[in-house]
Amino acid sequence: MFVVVAVTGGIAAYKTVHLVRRLIGDGHEVHVVPTEAALRFVGLPTWEAISRHPVTTSVHDDVATVRHVSLGQRADLVIVAPATANTLAKMAAGIADDLLGTTLLATRAPVVVAPAMHTEMWSHPATVANMATLRERGVYVVGPAEGPLTGGDSGAGRMSEPDDIADYALGLVAASADLAGRRVLVTAGGTREPIDPVRYLGNRSSGRQGVALALAAADRGAEVRLIAAHVEADVLAPARTHPRIVVSHAGTALDLQRATTDAAATADVIVMAAAVADYRVAEVSEGKLSRHGTDGTRTLDLVANPDIIAGLAAGRPADQRIVAFAAETASGDDLLERARMKRERKGVDALAVNEVGWDRGFESAANEVILIGTDGAVLTRVAGTKREVADALWSALLPTLP
Ligand code: CTP
Repeated sequence: MFVVVAVTGGIAAYKTVHLVRRLIGDGHEVHVVPTEAALRFVGLPTWEAISRHPVTTSVHDDVATVRHVSLGQRADLVIVAPATANTLAKMAAGIADDLLGTTLLATRAPVVVAPAMHTEMWSHPATVANMATLRERGVYVVGPAEGPLTGGDSGAGRMSEPDDIADYALGLVAASADLAGRRVLVTAGGTREPIDPVRYLGNRSSGRQGVALALAAADRGAEVRLIAAHVEADVLAPARTHPRIVVSHAGTALDLQRATTDAAATADVIVMAAAVADYRVAEVSEGKLSRHGTDGTRTLDLVANPDIIAGLAAGRPADQRIVAFAAETASGDDLLERARMKRERKGVDALAVNEVGWDRGFESAANEVILIGTDGAVLTRVAGTKREVADALWSALLPTLP
């Protein structure tokens, strides 16, 4: 495997020497990318000697090989150890002012960071926010561990031990291909049902969970088709550039039905995370409705939209798996009961349910989901960022796939 080990400016850099040796000992090709600050702790000759490859911090060396992107493009795995608060902040902002920054932007391989800093820096709101951004983007985090720190103080902030980092990162890559060869169809976001040329009936779905499911599947090797109803451009952006995701759009429930029915023919797994409007306006007005001339009320006639997923489930081939989503304003046993009944009603293989309310479940980075299987059994319960939820759902679904 082609592994990039990025080293940033922390005292724990000396432990990363062991990490590089361990990876090489396991038979991997390792390229070290230090920052300038890292070289104050462990010098360039050490990295070159143990990795047996040239090492530089600059995007201006070895330009003929387009090194600033080639390392990231070739990497099967990138480990940042130690990851300082400064580097984590730069990663969160996408800053690429050195070889490490460009490599991280160019790679589509799993990225593992092993933070190392003093407890105060680790718990600072800026670092907490940066870590949340990185986790949401799918960056994996190992540690930090608790224990004595360099200043004689003690607490959370020690870089994890090199062997623990290696075990975690290598295990991840093995798992990261577990959906290879699978064709996955994901729908995301809320449909918008037009009333007139400027108004619509919509819902609060942001599409984040669906996009996270698409990204997680693609990162794990699947070929993904993502059909987006209404999803904000910045939420959709990472899916657009992923090499294994094809994005298309479907604005209304009827559009979504057409698009998913077409795409379903070539899908092994369908995950219907889109929030589909149950009703559409019976007669869409050609012109903008005016309140002038009304008696202060207006009645819209609504007609039911087709239940897309129930239709797909009824006509699916035996080896296709279909997963529904449900957002319910219930909790505890009531939530589970509704989920079980809805799964049966839709005839799907699994249903992921989460509790929503006026102030929970929407427009947030975090989510809490229970996945119900065919016999109504709970396959997994997971709380975390939408990306963590997505990965946990795929891990739970995997054993149920043919
Ligand atoms: N769904 C669908 N077509 C619809 C409505 C919903 O395919 N017309 C899918 C959603 O994408 C989701 C699942 O069905 O995967 C559950 O959505 P939900 O809105 O909870 O289901 P409803 O059928 O609307 O159930 P109810 O109104 O009884 O809560």
